[in-house]
Amino acid sequence: MIRFEHVTKRYADGTTAVDDLSFEVAEGELVTLVGPSGCGKTTTMKMVNRLIEPTDGRIFLDGDDISAIDPVQLRRRIGYVIQQVGLFPHKTVLENTATVPHLLGWKRGKGRERAAELLDLVGLDPSVYGDRYPEQLSGGQRQRVGVARALAADPPVLLMDEPFGAVDPVVRERLQNEFLRLQARVRKTVLFVTHDIEEAVRLGDRIAVYGQGRIEQFDPPATVLGAPATPYVADFVGADRGLKRLSVTPVEESDLDRPPVVHLDDPLAKATERLRAQGARWAVVLDGEDQLHGWIPAQDASPAKTGGTVREHARRMEAWLPLGAPLKQAFATMLQHDAGWIAVVDRESNGRFLGVLTPARLHEALRRSIDADAQDVPRAGVAVETVASVAGP
Ligand SMILES: Nc1ncnc2c1ncn2[C@@H]1O[C@H](COP(=O)(O)OP(=O)(O)OP(=O)(O)O)[C@@H](O)[C@H]1O
Ligand SMILES: [Mg+2]
Repeated sequence: MIRFEHVTKRYADGTTAVDDLSFEVAEGELVTLVGPSGCGKTTTMKMVNRLIEPTDGRIFLDGDDISAIDPVQLRRRIGYVIQQVGLFPHKTVLENTATVPHLLGWKRGKGRERAAELLDLVGLDPSVYGDRYPEQLSGGQRQRVGVARALAADPPVLLMDEPFGAVDPVVRERLQNEFLRLQARVRKTVLFVTHDIEEAVRLGDRIAVYGQGRIEQFDPPATVLGAPATPYVADFVGADRGLKRLSVTPVEESDLDRPPVVHLDDPLAKATERLRAQGARWAVVLDGEDQLHGWIPAQDASPAKTGGTVREHARRMEAWLPLGAPLKQAFATMLQHDAGWIAVVDRESNGRFLGVLTPARLHEALRRSIDADAQDVPRAGVAVETVASVAGP
């Protein structure tokens, strides 16, 4: 969809901002560009919509050499979102969002209808926010209007230059999540610039790590984190690699422990029997639908307490997680429930209980993931919920 062929940009003062850059972004792919200040990220973006012309090389959009496309025509195919958003202060949110349809000569009603739809899509109720002015919005809300406006003409390509750079970390994470959900629906081809490796990892199908004017590595997040191509990249992705790997390593079936399992309506004697047979200190309790109910400790299922069912002794515990969720989510769930284990369920088969993940097993999984990378084996098929999975080219 977007192809750079040996693109160089030298500014008039002799600064080489981009040096012989070649890469390709597939249709529907979200590529994050990450790197230190001044490494050429913005220059790269602006060459795509011809706000900047390359000194050398060629750029193709959907097979067309963009140097042969009229810049105004070209920009209609490309949405552009920047950090300071650049909303018109004297126009309402709705009018701002309808700017591009308006420029494209859409009928006023149709443009506003589309704008309202898009505001809704980015989580701003048009009946609440539509008539406000930009200064009456929070920073995060303004960014959302910026995204809505960029999507208004339904361009196949989005360029986003640190769109969430100016908002606080909490709002930022929410905007990132919303943007991922949005992207799963609209499937634009996206170039997304960020300073922040965490953001690059969360959002990118692939990450382009920039050095000075060059791409040092262009790979899926798990590979960039786990198998940095150069010492520079390793340095850039940082020492807290283990922590970052938590976000890209999924919980797998082989990570799970299988404690004894009983059902609410089982006779207590059955629980006693199970626990003794496995020498376990507790059993998982499921309800009639095989959904997690909680647990029962061994002392409550002792032979002394005969009679009755598991139900009378079961304790509630609702910490669970779908298989394939990132270890980070598992860790967060453990902390949230202050739990020594969490149930892992199969989302495919209606939340069927599969086993439990314990802190020790989580640690093992993390170690294995880091070790696998140390041996240069990029992990395939990372099923991270937060990273939209789009096949590469
Ligand atoms: N108009 C210009 N004239 C001369 N040099 C420029 C011009 N615009 C950018 N540069 C230089 O080109 C290099 C790349 O700039 P660019 O804006 O692409 O960096 P960036 O990666 O987007 O940085 P940041 O993360 O700070 O936004 C920098 O050294 C910058 O100073
Ligand atoms: Mg920049």
